Amino acid sequence: MNRTLLFPTAIWSDKFEIDNVRLTEYALNLKKDGGIVLHELDGWRTTDNDIIFSAEFSDLRKLIDDRLEKIKLEVGFSDDFRFVLKTGWIYITNRGGWHPPHNHPEGDISCAYYIKVPQDSNSGFGINDPRKQNTWRALAMGAQSHTPFTVGRFATVPQTGDFLVFPSWLEHFVSPSMSDDDRIMVTLNYKLEK
Ligand SMILES: [Fe+2]
Repeated sequence: MNRTLLFPTAIWSDKFEIDNVRLTEYALNLKKDGGIVLHELDGWRTTDNDIIFSAEFSDLRKLIDDRLEKIKLEVGFSDDFRFVLKTGWIYITNRGGWHPPHNHPEGDISCAYYIKVPQDSNSGFGINDPRKQNTWRALAMGAQSHTPFTVGRFATVPQTGDFLVFPSWLEHFVSPSMSDDDRIMVTLNYKLEK
């Protein structure tokens, strides 16, 4: 019997080996100098969304450009188009730091790179099934195994060096960090342009 998969939602992942120690120092120095304290989220982020264009992130940007070029072709976008970096910020959380479900209207495709994740942070990157009318998720208890058809929520616990890519419209959330140490990540938003 044939099967046609419709309306897939993908997240892509990779692991980068770049100088995370240097990026950590850079981020923590920025935090000393200012930025936005997000009291309700127990977090801190850079004020300037252009921070991602700084020379400090050139290695990261090159790696991401390469991965996004592959994704662009994989999903069927024209070679005449490319993903153009628009905004990016650094986010630092400690114990209790979290982020409620949100998406990124600034982009078409968004990326997360984890500069420093303490071993004990156990902070998850989560996604709920975006198909709100999908009642099959209620059948998950009857599932023999976890498959994309029976799982209504996805979560992964990123580690230092992990890289994620996802459609910017995809609602995602971050569960609270359990560590007193800094968890540092950077978010990048790209638009598809000719
Ligand atoms: Fe986000």
